[in-house]
Amino acid sequence: MTTNFIQSVTFDDQGRLHILDQTKLPHITEFIEIESVEDTWDAIKQLKVRGAPAIGIAAAYGLVLAVKDAPEDSFDSFYQVFKKHLDYLASSRPTAVNLFWALNRLDELVKQQQTQPISEIKASLIKEAHEIRNEDEELCRAIGEHALTLLEDGMTVLTHCNAGGIATAKYGTALAPIYLAKEKGMDIKVFADETRPLLQGARLTTWELMQAGVDVTLIADNMAAMVMKKGMVQAVIVGCDRVAANGDAANKIGTYGVALLAKAHNIPFYVAAPTPTIDIDTPTGEDIPIEERGSEEITQAFGIETAPQGVNVFNPAFDVTPHDLITAIITEKGVIKGNYSEELKKLFI
Ligand code: MRU
Repeated sequence: MTTNFIQSVTFDDQGRLHILDQTKLPHITEFIEIESVEDTWDAIKQLKVRGAPAIGIAAAYGLVLAVKDAPEDSFDSFYQVFKKHLDYLASSRPTAVNLFWALNRLDELVKQQQTQPISEIKASLIKEAHEIRNEDEELCRAIGEHALTLLEDGMTVLTHCNAGGIATAKYGTALAPIYLAKEKGMDIKVFADETRPLLQGARLTTWELMQAGVDVTLIADNMAAMVMKKGMVQAVIVGCDRVAANGDAANKIGTYGVALLAKAHNIPFYVAAPTPTIDIDTPTGEDIPIEERGSEEITQAFGIETAPQGVNVFNPAFDVTPHDLITAIITEKGVIKGNYSEELKKLFI
């Protein structure tokens, strides 16, 4: 059975950027048109488009939009406008390295083409943004194939946050093997952590898996230990926002706790990461910038006050799982185990 994936980020032939507003899910499936670089920044910041690969794709298209009307008289005046918008988009969220990776890729392209007419540079930017999107689809499918070699028919997998189709071009990273298993007629069930405070697991992972006919069970985050203790989970697979050179991996807040629980229950803990999520220039997890978000996400998420007004709040959006808790990192190039510092470096040779 093939799955009908919803594309969360599209750029049409008329040069219009559309994104699925993920803040409205699961009740409303609404696509919004992004008309400016400010709209793009805002959509990323507010998590209308979210998930590391999708953020990179949206930013690439956002930069294309931003320079549509940029001056064409000289490279310098064009580049000034291009770089200003690039830096602005790079300030939207700090943790997912895919954002910077995609923007740098466009930057490199523009610098290489500086002797070309600006109209041609603009055309190549559109082409490159499409390539970033199309490549992501291939990377995710390959991650799914490799991840599937670690799973067996009849297993139940636990996941945290949403690393699914809508967080990428297609298939997702952590969820890619689940979709491929479905296509191949295998029976793999999923426990989805609800993922406090913004409920990406409850709102998004369950929604997309249910649409695909996958057997998914929602649990509150604090139930993961119990389902593991009861032997109801045979593997954990999560996505990730940035893997450091030593294999430490930043992902949605709560992932570190899940990794500790998996270790305590002798359950393999896998991180799915395409190479654009691997940041060889960041030595360890300590060096990964962790986004802190507004207190209202905890005290009044979705408009309901659940804490006294004025209470002190700490709201980091991500945590870092140390590499020694990670059984394997699943990339599009294969399953990486053992000495992560050595093995990850080899991916970029
Ligand atoms: O804050 P979010 O919803 O963007 O966080 C997303 C995650 O933590 C995902 O697991 C990660 O970006 C991987 S998406 C393939």
